Amino acid sequence: MTIRVWSYLSEYEKEHADIIDAVETVFSSGKLMLSASVRGFEEEFAAYHGVPHCVGVDNGTNAIKLGLQALGVGPGDEVITVSNTAAPTVVAIDAVGATPVFVDVRADDYLMDAEQVEAAITDRTRCLLPVHLYGQAVDMRPLRELAAKHNLLILEDCAQAHGARHHGTLVGTMGDAAAYSFYPTKVLGAYGDGGATTTSDSEVARKLRRLRYYGMEDRYYVVEVPANNSRLDEVQAEILRRKLGRLDEYIADRRAVAQRYAEGLEDTDLELPQVAENNEHVYYLYVVRHPRRDDILRRLRTYDIELNISYPWPVHTMTGFAHLGYRQGSLPVTEKLAGEIFSLPMYPSLSIDIQDKTISALREVLKTL
Ligand SMILES: Cc1ncc(COP(=O)(O)O)c(C=O)c1O
Repeated sequence: MTIRVWSYLSEYEKEHADIIDAVETVFSSGKLMLSASVRGFEEEFAAYHGVPHCVGVDNGTNAIKLGLQALGVGPGDEVITVSNTAAPTVVAIDAVGATPVFVDVRADDYLMDAEQVEAAITDRTRCLLPVHLYGQAVDMRPLRELAAKHNLLILEDCAQAHGARHHGTLVGTMGDAAAYSFYPTKVLGAYGDGGATTTSDSEVARKLRRLRYYGMEDRYYVVEVPANNSRLDEVQAEILRRKLGRLDEYIADRRAVAQRYAEGLEDTDLELPQVAENNEHVYYLYVVRHPRRDDILRRLRTYDIELNISYPWPVHTMTGFAHLGYRQGSLPVTEKLAGEIFSLPMYPSLSIDIQDKTISALREVLKTL
């Protein structure tokens, strides 16, 4: 049987009755759109974070896009982010007509290098968009200081870091707004698409509610454009409510997998994930690094193990973003990483057997290099 980097099937088997009950609850409720389950999930997700407002939307990309729009970021504005991220972070910035500006990442944890941010600030900069990548928080203290000094907004991309903490504080509570994806692979994943934007600002929350619902304040009356239809689906919201109650367990299970990998691979020459001081990692991905990555992946195929690369192309090198004018070599750490990183299988219900097979296959392959 092929070992895959992610699968939901063993979790589904375990939680089958609850997931089916969630679907039945919505189907038999008589209300299929923006109703009790979306409202309930929004309240419970906000409460988990200790923030007053959560607005459920259709996916993480639109959670960022609507978040930026609600904060007033648009054409002519620059948004500082990273190129070592999932492309949708940058697609969302582009979608509101703003210009993405990239800084490089740190060589040890592959996250936004806050030390490079001040030099990237211009008089058009409106917003900092740190991405808590792979399950670990960006160093937020210097970013918050810079935002205060230069009067900038912060939108946190939390798509990969539900429940991660930084200096004891949950990600998503350290900026003006935060965007989440509930794509099935995520730490809190739905059984389809889903997303949410959280904020402490009630005016921003009000705008978010309009922006996801055709720009309407009340039914049939548009007060704001450009708007969207970006509703979170009622069934996905009910499933997410059930799974939110288990989020801390999922995180504990992910940490246990990470610990086993670390113990099984620490004496190899693979570079293992480094947890920055004061961070509590939730291991959305277990990203390792080796200069001969492509040889390793090729040889692992004979063991029937499929691993993933997150991400093989830095966003600034993609054809779709060529107009931004970044040349090869402009973000050296990001570019080098893209050729050397890969991710091991990681999900909460990953069996010990698969973890051990992955460890021993990797150890064997590394010996043959
Ligand atoms: C860091 C990051 N931002 C944004 C997104 C977009 O989320 P979605 O796929 O739900 O649109 C993702 C997920 O792919 C992501 O990993």
